[in-house]
Amino acid sequence: MRSLVPDYLEGVLADVRQDASGQPAQYIPELAAADPDRLAAVFATVDGRVYGAGDSDAEFTIQSISKPFVYALALADRGFAPVLDKIGVEPSGEAFNQISLERETGRPLNPMINAGAITAHSLAGLDGMGAATRVERVVDGLSAFAGRRLAVDESVCASEMEHAHRNLAIAHMLRSHGILEEDPRDVVDGYVRQCAVLVSTRDLAMMAATLANGGRNPVTGEQVVDARVVRQVLSVMATCGMYDAAGDWATQVGIPAKSGVAGGLIGALPGQIGIATFSPRLDTHGNSVRGVSLFGRFSADMGLHVM
Ligand code: DON
Repeated sequence: MRSLVPDYLEGVLADVRQDASGQPAQYIPELAAADPDRLAAVFATVDGRVYGAGDSDAEFTIQSISKPFVYALALADRGFAPVLDKIGVEPSGEAFNQISLERETGRPLNPMINAGAITAHSLAGLDGMGAATRVERVVDGLSAFAGRRLAVDESVCASEMEHAHRNLAIAHMLRSHGILEEDPRDVVDGYVRQCAVLVSTRDLAMMAATLANGGRNPVTGEQVVDARVVRQVLSVMATCGMYDAAGDWATQVGIPAKSGVAGGLIGALPGQIGIATFSPRLDTHGNSVRGVSLFGRFSADMGLHVM
């Protein structure tokens, strides 16, 4: 029997297309040039079925959606204690690019804001690993979550690096507190490279489904990280994944989620499904306007509110 899911998805995409508010991220020139009308939604179930609609194979950069996955890699590579020692798990209530460090320790409040994600990047891989090898570990890890080899968009990477003063300033603060132990520029360079990994909405849905499936990719069968790591990651996605819109999201959508400034958005429902959407029109929090609407519809239509 033909699945009704693609028709449902097409219908919801047509509805949200009516809203033309928001615009692509302006602070990274390569992202500002994105086609604002690209739109896609994909469901990937924990038993490996994938349903998509719209521009679901179009590629864009992962940006902040890399953060929960690289936090997972850091936890898997180092263990919980060294990571929790350097990155907290409290919502900041502030924008993603605010400094948001704990006053006494200089620890970033959580791994979803830039300060925490730059730190998580520095903790992926093994101690003493050089910056270039660490980037390889990160791209390999993201690829394992997606179930295919992912590449870096060099022009987005270069474009962001030219305007990375804020992230560099945050990294220097982290270095002054001893949270970063290496050259801040090398760490930001690696973090920006991590953010410039190219994915499709289909890839993002599979990455989210890997989280929903306790860390095992539903198609390749690879156990990328263990279930305890996934629980930690989904918890911080639930409380911090949507930055200073996390409370609105929790009450209105209620799915552990993460957004990125290229317009991607993922949600993961343990034991069930990974969901991903793509639309580059952003709201003032840096979250996709149409993506937030799509998730609101999915949550209401299918009773997915779990928080
Ligand atoms: O560090 C930055 O500013 C970007 N590479 C990523 C920010 C981002 O995706 C925020 N999320 N909505």
